[in-house]
Amino acid sequence: MKKMFTTLFIACTIYCSNAQETVTMQINAKANNEKISRFIYGHFAEHLGRCIYGGFYVTDSINVPKQGRIRMDVVNALKEINIPLLRWPGGCFADEYHWSDGIGPRDKRPQRVNTTWGMITEDNSFGTDEFLQLCGLLKCEPYIAGNVGTGSPQEMANWIEYLNYDGKSTLADMRRANGHSAPYKVSFWGVGNESWGCGGDMTPEFYADQYKRYASFCESYPGSPRLKKIMSGANADDYNWTEVSMKNVNPGQLWGISMHYYTIVNTWQHKGSATNFGEDEYFKGLKNCLHIEDLINKHSAIMDKYDPQKKVALAVDEWGIWTDAEPGTNGAFLYQQNSMRDALIAALSLNIFNKHCDRIRMANLAQTVNVLQALVLTDKEKMVLTPTYYVFDLYKYHQDATLLPVNFYAPEYHVGNDSIPAINASASRDSNGVIHITLVNTDPKNKISVNTSFNGATFKQAEGQVLTSANFTDINTFDNPNKVKPASFTDFKKNGNDLAVNLPPMSVTLITLK
Ligand code: AHR
Repeated sequence: MKKMFTTLFIACTIYCSNAQETVTMQINAKANNEKISRFIYGHFAEHLGRCIYGGFYVTDSINVPKQGRIRMDVVNALKEINIPLLRWPGGCFADEYHWSDGIGPRDKRPQRVNTTWGMITEDNSFGTDEFLQLCGLLKCEPYIAGNVGTGSPQEMANWIEYLNYDGKSTLADMRRANGHSAPYKVSFWGVGNESWGCGGDMTPEFYADQYKRYASFCESYPGSPRLKKIMSGANADDYNWTEVSMKNVNPGQLWGISMHYYTIVNTWQHKGSATNFGEDEYFKGLKNCLHIEDLINKHSAIMDKYDPQKKVALAVDEWGIWTDAEPGTNGAFLYQQNSMRDALIAALSLNIFNKHCDRIRMANLAQTVNVLQALVLTDKEKMVLTPTYYVFDLYKYHQDATLLPVNFYAPEYHVGNDSIPAINASASRDSNGVIHITLVNTDPKNKISVNTSFNGATFKQAEGQVLTSANFTDINTFDNPNKVKPASFTDFKKNGNDLAVNLPPMSVTLITLK
């Protein structure tokens, strides 16, 4: 057994009965310190493969309900999970994107080459105004990544003026001429993307100077919110990047610093199949996903040295599982299926982000439609929601709720000589006083019982939903879209003010207490 959560002081016990383990869990329902930012439940859409073109944005010939060329079945599905934030236009694409290519009459927009993702023609038919229209339909906040790699401070400053300035200027008039008289008031701005790699292969010292140079000219216009500027942060465990960034940039010049971490099962060269794997790769996927907590702890500790009051957010603005592309698809399009394993990866990650919400105030899953760990897959008119989508549906209640620390010792799920915690959980209280607990059982074979007690709360009624499936490779397909879907969950019992829950093997469970 390994101590999994250390947030509070309460001793916990575990004992075995009839080979089914019972975990004692305590939830501090009096806690009132930390809010789980809804932006932890953010998403990411890049000009990559079929995320924008063929995903969100389709040609007139695709016969689905649309607003302009934006497909409304996708929009409506994302509204169901209260999508709070969408990051765009990349990713690596952001550092080769020139925003002025994507405004004005579509037939006059230049054709460029998307050199990062497959050397395909980018016709710029989806540009700034289309992105803002999409965010308006989704009712979510836009988060725009500016171009540091091949752009200039002037170009980024102009983009902000085009979007946010309410007065008289040529750029603001261009926006008006393009159909939007009111400023869009975009507040989240990324200054570059992966500047250590595809964003310009910079040293952290050079990039810190670039950040300050660009950020100096990113204006907050009267009537628009103060800009939330986000520094391009570390690749996974590059702690030196965070150290140099925090040392060189005054916390007052930053809303956040990013960190990217992808769960890779094997190696970057041979990542592994999204659908065809055994227990070994199931286990490795979950184990590598859980590594993100170690990264968060270490990056946060560096940030604490320079920003002890935690004013600067750690924004995990790209995360998720990255597998080999589906056989027969263009490898540069990063199209992968999404299994029950991936649902668990999403659930574990979100529980970890919730737990660290004092520092993590934004996270964006890569990527929303048809790319990497997608929520939605499309094929012409067809659309299917993935197991990962349903995790976001179960977890949406945590958005902007108060974090309730959860304490327990987790039993271990073993494969060979290795093991990971079998249980992972988080809890929150919403503005109506309703408590939501999300619990993951990573063990694919064994049910686990959890006895939960509450410090400082009583409840009259409990309800449950569960996402589980017979096999970790189970997926939703266009022909069988409901294979992995949440179901009502009733395997729990109220004992006074305690709750005994039997978590099915390999499951994500939501318990709601009123
Ligand atoms: O999400 C795919 C790519 O992964 C992004 O473009 C880049 O930022 C990261 O390396």
